[in-house]
Amino acid sequence: MRNFSQGWKILVAIFLLGLSFPYSQGYNVKSKVFLSPKFVLGPGSVDNKFYYGIDFPRGHIALKSFNAEVIDEAGYPVPLHETYLHHWVVERYYGRKDAEVLEYNGNRLLRESDYISARNDGICQRNCLGQFFGLGSETRGTATHIPDPYGIEIGNPATIPAGYEERWVLNVHAIDTRGVEDRLGCTECKCDLYNVTVDEYGQLLRPNYRGGFACCYDGTQCRVKNGFEGARRSLYLRYTVKWVDWDTSIVPVKIYIFDVTDNETRFSDSTRFSIQHHCQIEYSVEPCKASDVADNGCVHTKRTSVTMPTSGYIIYGVAHQHSGGIGAALYREDGQLMCSSIPAYGNGKEAGNEAGYIVGMSTCYPKPGFLRITDKETLIVESNYSSSRDHTGVMGLFYILVADRVPESSSFLDVFSKMYNDINHSAFVWGAFVLAGVAVIAAAVGYRRRNKYEDGYQPIMI
Ligand SMILES: *[C@@H]1O[C@H](CO)[C@@H](O)[C@H](O)[C@H]1NC(C)=O
Ligand SMILES: *[C@@H]1O[C@H](CO)[C@@H](O)[C@H](O)[C@H]1NC(C)=O
Ligand SMILES: *[C@@H]1O[C@H](CO)[C@@H](O)[C@H](O)[C@H]1NC(C)=O
Repeated sequence: MRNFSQGWKILVAIFLLGLSFPYSQGYNVKSKVFLSPKFVLGPGSVDNKFYYGIDFPRGHIALKSFNAEVIDEAGYPVPLHETYLHHWVVERYYGRKDAEVLEYNGNRLLRESDYISARNDGICQRNCLGQFFGLGSETRGTATHIPDPYGIEIGNPATIPAGYEERWVLNVHAIDTRGVEDRLGCTECKCDLYNVTVDEYGQLLRPNYRGGFACCYDGTQCRVKNGFEGARRSLYLRYTVKWVDWDTSIVPVKIYIFDVTDNETRFSDSTRFSIQHHCQIEYSVEPCKASDVADNGCVHTKRTSVTMPTSGYIIYGVAHQHSGGIGAALYREDGQLMCSSIPAYGNGKEAGNEAGYIVGMSTCYPKPGFLRITDKETLIVESNYSSSRDHTGVMGLFYILVADRVPESSSFLDVFSKMYNDINHSAFVWGAFVLAGVAVIAAAVGYRRRNKYEDGYQPIMI
């Protein structure tokens, strides 16, 4: 009888273990809220600054999420129809320990000799889309959390060059559209609204360039309605970072960003294989013709194929699109859908639900271990926009987080052998016998579930 009740205790213990297994390490998630340096905007004005050396969690840690929003001096969220958040990006670098941050025109800059890039894992060319995090108007409504036991490993002392520190640069591009003549036109950076004919570096714009990033650089001004008065005001990007201390049970993920405008060119000979990327970042959508309306409902589809630099398992995916976007996706070469990300538009006035703006992107959290990509696999990136009117300066990015392995299950054996040592052995044998039966049933159920998710696709909508 004693053995019998011990057996039940063991079963209960195993059941509880099973519930929490294999992520039961109880990570202690830390969270901290930071403020960017202040930036000042008046009606129609544009701010696009770089802040090297922003406040960020330190030490050998794993990042779990990054959320942000624009707030005013009183700490209130600012809606997108007042301050349009074109984009923000956060990128890692190694800065020389004694480097001095230089204040220039509201930027916080660094001498080039004090800087070593420590960008994400790809795949655009150097100096392009190297960020760890970055979104735009959809920031408030887009999930960024990374499920356990995964995380973005940073601050590993072994990877930081001697004499340098790991640091972070933030870029915020915001457009004040209070009182402007054409809100969408200002957010799409239409050159005529900005009265711009040369780019930031004084170069003449391409003759057919109607709008985009080259027309709404820092310090430009979008046309405001005659007589409109509005105060200049101070704003901040408030960002919340969550992380856990590094632990060997955490499985690190790599960050890849695909750009639908990328045009890969390959080079290979007997000794070397290399791929050059040409990411344009933005593109335009021509309005559809009357004859298209019946055919495809005026959907502009852009696709490109990209080559994965490594193998692994997709843990998370999200796209970035601008107003007019109606969805983006990642496919295998044979057309199998891997991940899709669909915009949600607001329908009110308050921050987080602004009518006509993308206020969130759905994300993709595949069942870990089920969405495997192989080394050099070709993937298709797709970005759809409504073409019932024209759009300039739109984007089609797809972020994925990739783990090179699924978590080890050996920890379960460790727990098992510990229990064996801790308790009455014959009770243990009894419990193990029952467990074996449970395992056979679980394996059968698991096998069927695996078949159900054979396509490895399990999107989660926000
Ligand atoms: C547009 O730019 C031109 C030349 O840079 C300038 O002469 C003109 O006054 C500007 N127009 C407006 C409305 O600001
Ligand atoms: C891609 O690059 C190739 C070679 O540089 C070029 O011929 C082609 O026009 C490019 N395609 C696009 C869509 O830019
Ligand atoms: C994009 O549009 C095409 C054509 O209408 C459609 O087949 C595809 O499913 C769309 N993709 C996404 C991600 O919405």
